[in-house]
Amino acid sequence: MGSLEQVAPALYPPPKDFASKAHVGSLEAYRALYERARNHPEEFWAEVAEREIHWFEKWRQVFYWDPPFAQWFVGAKTNASYNCLDRHLDSARRNKAAILWEGEPGDQRILTYGELHRLVCRFANVLKARGLTRQDRVVIYMGMVPELPVAMLACARLGIVHSVVFAGFSAEALKGRIQDLGATLVVTADGGWRRGREVRLKDAADEALAECPSVREVIVLRRTGSEVNIKPGRDFWWHELDKEVGEHCPAEPVDAENPLFVLYTSGTTGRPKGILHTTGGYLVQTTATMKWVFDLREEDTYWCTADIGWVTGHSYIVYGPLSAGATVVMYEGAPDYPQWDRWWRIVEKYRVSIFYTSPTAIRAMIRQGDQWPLGHDLSSLRLLGSVGEPINPAAWEWYYRVIGKQRCPIVDTWWQTETGAILIAPMPGATPLKPGSATLPLPGIEPAIVDMEGRELGPGQEGFLVIKRPWPAMLRTLWGDPERYELQYWRRFPSTAGLYFTGDAARVDADGYYTILGRVDDVINVSGHRISTMELESALVRHPAVAEAAVVGRPDEITGQAVCAFVTLKQGHTNYAQVAEELRAWVAHEIGGFARPAEIRFVESLPKTRSGKIMRRLLREIVTRGEVSGDVSTLEDIAVIRRLSVPDED
Ligand code: WTA
Repeated sequence: MGSLEQVAPALYPPPKDFASKAHVGSLEAYRALYERARNHPEEFWAEVAEREIHWFEKWRQVFYWDPPFAQWFVGAKTNASYNCLDRHLDSARRNKAAILWEGEPGDQRILTYGELHRLVCRFANVLKARGLTRQDRVVIYMGMVPELPVAMLACARLGIVHSVVFAGFSAEALKGRIQDLGATLVVTADGGWRRGREVRLKDAADEALAECPSVREVIVLRRTGSEVNIKPGRDFWWHELDKEVGEHCPAEPVDAENPLFVLYTSGTTGRPKGILHTTGGYLVQTTATMKWVFDLREEDTYWCTADIGWVTGHSYIVYGPLSAGATVVMYEGAPDYPQWDRWWRIVEKYRVSIFYTSPTAIRAMIRQGDQWPLGHDLSSLRLLGSVGEPINPAAWEWYYRVIGKQRCPIVDTWWQTETGAILIAPMPGATPLKPGSATLPLPGIEPAIVDMEGRELGPGQEGFLVIKRPWPAMLRTLWGDPERYELQYWRRFPSTAGLYFTGDAARVDADGYYTILGRVDDVINVSGHRISTMELESALVRHPAVAEAAVVGRPDEITGQAVCAFVTLKQGHTNYAQVAEELRAWVAHEIGGFARPAEIRFVESLPKTRSGKIMRRLLREIVTRGEVSGDVSTLEDIAVIRRLSVPDED
């Protein structure tokens, strides 16, 4: 981890008119908040909790820390669904749009807070009528339709844990998650629309359910209207069940530490981790960051382009924005359907004022050409956001210039599934921006950069990003695996024990600005989606032709990283082109289409250390520096490459 001379990047101070109206309008105001949170964290978070959230009963203690297990707002009672809906109903927000939804084919729905509340109450009554209780877990496997947040909020209303599985995941991945959770109910749809084609969700659910004995019933939303298999006694249409219930369903006060949801994410082993979030602290911090980072105002139209199947959608389409009373745009389909201006059409049509997306999407837009955004009136925009991976300064500048017309600050928000809420990001009315940097930690967050020995590093030095103090929205544990939780996040190195280990490398500059450099573990980030190399490898070796596999990330101009798989085949398989095709389809089947390897290289053997570990570092170097020209139809001699490129490993 060397020191690096940095060229000071351009500074973009907050525009004056933006700052004058912002929730936090100056760097001094930010620093005052930050200092207050640092010196009096309990008072600080109690004030935020008091201001942002409705509590049925107040806490006995703000914070209880029995490392590595935290509790926040101990003894308090609240409800996430109540905070996102009911509390808005006795004001003008009752008839304010909560969700402006657009389907990929162009159909539209507008749900006011009053109407969303009605739908959530009805569906919660359906869940009750099916006999579900707080002991149950509900898996939700749906596309981006309003019934997805409805199902989430209905579970939350009753204190039932939900787990949303991204609709791009395969039957196999869905099965693993249902089994790990022991879910009793699955909510899905016949299908969803993506790039003009139907994603057959019910078919995938059926395939998964063949091996999920815990699931008693399945509720199916009719979205595409296509023919699906309905298994009598197990499967029920949403609209049929809806006819049988009433609209009165009070939100149940639950403990602040009542689990709200489990969301699976890739870790460093083949098995995905079930990240567990609880209710009170999560709501406090997702709601507060809507104001701090997105500077949300009553009149904003806010659009986060993420899928609700990932954490960004949980925290910044559903819980944060709805709790804060925002009008949220939600779009079902692909950005390039029917053509590459779909997003800008939506911004123009709904007069979107806050727009939050990923660097991958921005780079894809750059490649398609400026004519797409330039063909639309984007003057409603006032703030832009970025999340999921480091944004390279060139993409940042394009976003700033072509989309924001040099008027809109960009909030580069660093956080993780585990952190629940944004931890490092600008406050757009306060923080001067530096392209490529997520800037400063939010109040209550104390990051540091450390080396392998746990020593704190100074400005300019690259090291591991850690967080020194627990925060309200942090994960509480891994579902069913507290030991793995402890090992993975709190004791990764003996010397970093007690510090939350993010898995990211970063550096901080002399102004205290953080630049995130990427993952240091075996997780690769493709289009902002976390994929574990181990998960990919174990999927590949399950294929009958594969003897061994090693997967590394390769830099990619659009997706940030791309999956590159090194594979050795069993005796007798020599038709490389055909096997490569088969393996791509296999990965799509085992995990999901988004994880499909961009490149498969067949090798005689994999380079290993003397102790038998695959030398991923060497492979990474090969794909990064491209010393070896890759072609799926050739067999590379890794032993030769090893001799040529890296002298002594082990
Ligand atoms: C990366 C997504 C640089 C990082 C919210 C992190 C980022 C992982 C940024 C979490 C950012 C997220 N700049 N890198 N602004 N935001 N990352 O769990 O490597 O899907 O550890 O959560 O994405 O991905 P996850």
